[in-house]
Amino acid sequence: MSSPLEDAAHAVAHGRCVIASTGAGISAESGIPTFRGDSGIWKKYPPEKFATIQAYLANPLEVWGFWVEIGREMAACKPNAAHVAIAEMESQKHLHAVVTQNVDSLHQTAGSQRVIEYHGNVRRLVCTRCRHQEPVDLTNPPKLPPHCPCGIVMRPDIVMFGEYIPEGPMHEAAALAEKCDVMIIVGTSAQVYPAADLPFIAKQHGAFIIESNIEETDFTSEITDAFLCGAAGETLPSLAKRVRELS
Ligand code: APR
Repeated sequence: MSSPLEDAAHAVAHGRCVIASTGAGISAESGIPTFRGDSGIWKKYPPEKFATIQAYLANPLEVWGFWVEIGREMAACKPNAAHVAIAEMESQKHLHAVVTQNVDSLHQTAGSQRVIEYHGNVRRLVCTRCRHQEPVDLTNPPKLPPHCPCGIVMRPDIVMFGEYIPEGPMHEAAALAEKCDVMIIVGTSAQVYPAADLPFIAKQHGAFIIESNIEETDFTSEITDAFLCGAAGETLPSLAKRVRELS
């Protein structure tokens, strides 16, 4: 008897190159608020004030204060069953890599090995001049704004609105989207580009598109082949279980 879950499990179990593309929704059940929606982060912190490169250059301390607040919340959260299911499918060689828009490190904490951080990571600092990087513990942040050994102010290593995606993650993610024959999209509103291009690139190259979300998105009617409606913390473990049974 066919169903979206059965179709998705067969695609993953027999896929040659399966990748996941995740957004804030996969971390919602870990307690990290998503960005959009009634209780979204951008409702409390307007992005034009806290998340654009212009805001950062105009008022680095205020933007730093926002990322310390967000980073502290993220650092207190643990991976949920959806992150674990993704890591499990990778360890069982059913999933090749995760491209995530999230900056919370929960995929790595759950055990995923190949994670492309498309929007960076809030637990890393980068120098705006020499590109020196170093880890930062936002539960015990340094004196703000932190300084690089070269003397320049450092910033969170995340992609702010108005900035380009770093070349490495951008090219790696695009290559995976072209190469994959199955893409599992999890918990993204499909509103932010170029991240939202990746599923379309995969579809154009013949991939089977699986989507896990609590509501339909622009992807659903246009490119999704199997829509797993519901919380990722439930749909992804069910998917991973069925893939195991079919393998
Ligand atoms: N399971 C699955 N999906 C969920 C869940 C859940 N438990 N809870 C929420 N969602 C879905 C929502 O329906 C929505 O489609 O997750 C999506 C979250 O959308 P956004 O908050 O817009 O997050 P995202 O798509 O990751 O945003 C992309 O925008 O603000 C920038 O840089 C930021 O990386 C972020 C990017």
